[in-house]
Parts: sequence; structure tokens; C-alpha cells
Amino acid sequence: MSVSVNDLHYVALAVPDLAAERAFFGETWGLTEVGEQDGKVYFAAEGSPYPFVIRLRQDDERKTDLIGFSAGSRAEVDALFAQVQAAQCKIISKPGEAEGPAGGYAFRFFDPDGRAIEVICDTTRRTPRVLAKGEAIPTGLSHIVLHTPDPAKLVAFYETVLGFRLTDWIGSFMAFLRCNPAHHRLAILPGPPALNHVAFDVASVDEMMRGLARLHEKGVTLSWGPGRHTAGNNTFTYYLTPNGNAVEYTSDLEEVDEASWQPTVYEFSPGITDQWGTGRIIPGNVPHAEMTPDKGLWQVPA
Ligand SMILES: [Fe+2]
Repeated sequence: MSVSVNDLHYVALAVPDLAAERAFFGETWGLTEVGEQDGKVYFAAEGSPYPFVIRLRQDDERKTDLIGFSAGSRAEVDALFAQVQAAQCKIISKPGEAEGPAGGYAFRFFDPDGRAIEVICDTTRRTPRVLAKGEAIPTGLSHIVLHTPDPAKLVAFYETVLGFRLTDWIGSFMAFLRCNPAHHRLAILPGPPALNHVAFDVASVDEMMRGLARLHEKGVTLSWGPGRHTAGNNTFTYYLTPNGNAVEYTSDLEEVDEASWQPTVYEFSPGITDQWGTGRIIPGNVPHAEMTPDKGLWQVPA
């Protein structure tokens, strides 16, 4: 049994229009800007203990800089590094003091598609705020979805190397992987290597709908939803940020019992991805697909 990461900690993005993305995540989406260092802007979620969940910087092209997964201890970071080395991944940095204002102990490597991944522990913690009922801002990061040319191969990689467990499949098309009781912190779709979307938990379907209305009032177009997925049973609304990053408000993501869970392979149908059918009402309201390789592949993150 391999050592496992235990959560999705952060996503770091580079964007051409930093001012617009910064205003979006801070003022529109409802994260809290907590600091800037070396041209990188850090955002926390009010309901999350992590010191940051999104990191932004300016670059000529939109790209994914890093995906950060947390581990339980320095010993586990070291053990995960051994698993990454055993898989002959290209190493960016060995375990050591982490970069950035939140401190910690971390290493970085490229996954088989060339995504830069950080495994990190011991970052500083914030005191999460209990959000008011109806406060439609993220309680934390929920999950990321990645495209890859061979989903089964990347599933096997994340199982073996970072200790993810398979929760469910939709056909042989979409895999859902967990690293804690949440049904998925990582999901994998076919396509050129790219980030499909970053999802943020909100407290309930009520906050998700209030968030939808607030975003609409601020001129942010709903790209897919509202609806409820079958795998994970979570609700969804998807949007694009000013620089074209797909983001999701989700709620009610299922928690699974590690000891007894048996993966389901769902047969693909429109009703599997959208149980209520409400996401199909609005013409042109469709799942986002990122069809070009991420510009950040195989680049040592700035
Ligand atoms: Fe999602």
C-alpha cells in the first residue's frame, strides 16, 4: 500500500491579465486575498484552514503553474518523494523548505504529462470562519479535473505514486479519485493534457444558487448548470474567469467510507452528468472542454 497525499491544497495559475483575474477571484468569486510575494498573489477561502487555495501571477499566456497536494507529515512527504522517484518522474525539487509565505516542507515533480505537482505539509493554518447561512462564497477547494490522452494510464499513475484511490468511473471516459473521504479531489477526462476546471465547495445548494445569481449580476456567464452530477452526487454550476479558466461552485459532494466503498462504473448518458436535467435547459449551456495542451507543461514553475 502506497503512502497517500491527503488533500488538494492549492492550484497556481499564470494569466495574461492579472488585474482582471485578481478582481475576479477576490471580489466576484468570494476568495480572500491574503498576500503578495515575488509577483504571486495568494487567495484563501474563508471556510478553509489552508493559508491559500489559489495562487496567481502574470505571464504572457494562460497556464497552470502548479497543483499542490497536501501530506500529513514530513515523513510522509519523504515517503511520497520515494514513490515519485521509484516511478522515475522528472524531479523539479527535492524535499525541503517550501517557497512562499505559508512556509511548509515540500517537493516538486512533473507527472507523466508534464504537469508540475507539489506535495507539501506543515504550511501555516488559518482559523476558518463559520460562514453565515446564505453566504455564497467558497468554503474551500473541492476538486480539480484534468485532461490526459490516456485516462486509465494517468489513473494508475496517481494511484501508485500519490496513493489516490479509485472511487468511480463513467464508462472508460471519466475517472474519479479520492485521497480522503471526499468522493473526488481529482477527476480525469480524455483530451490533450490540460486543466479542465477547478471546483470550490460552497455550503449547500442554496448558497450555490445565490452564488449563481450574484455572478450573473456581475456579468459572469453561467457556462453549464445548475445541475447535480451522479458520480459524487454533487451539485454544479460552471463559469469562466476573465482569462478563460473554468471554475465551479459545487455543494453536497458525497463522502465515502474507505473500508466498504466499491467503485461503480456508470454507463455514460446525459442523465449521468446532469441528474436533474436542468443543465440541459439553456441552449449552448454545455460542459467545458479544454482542447489544447496546457502552456505550462514541462516548465519549471516560476
Ligand atoms: Fe467538477
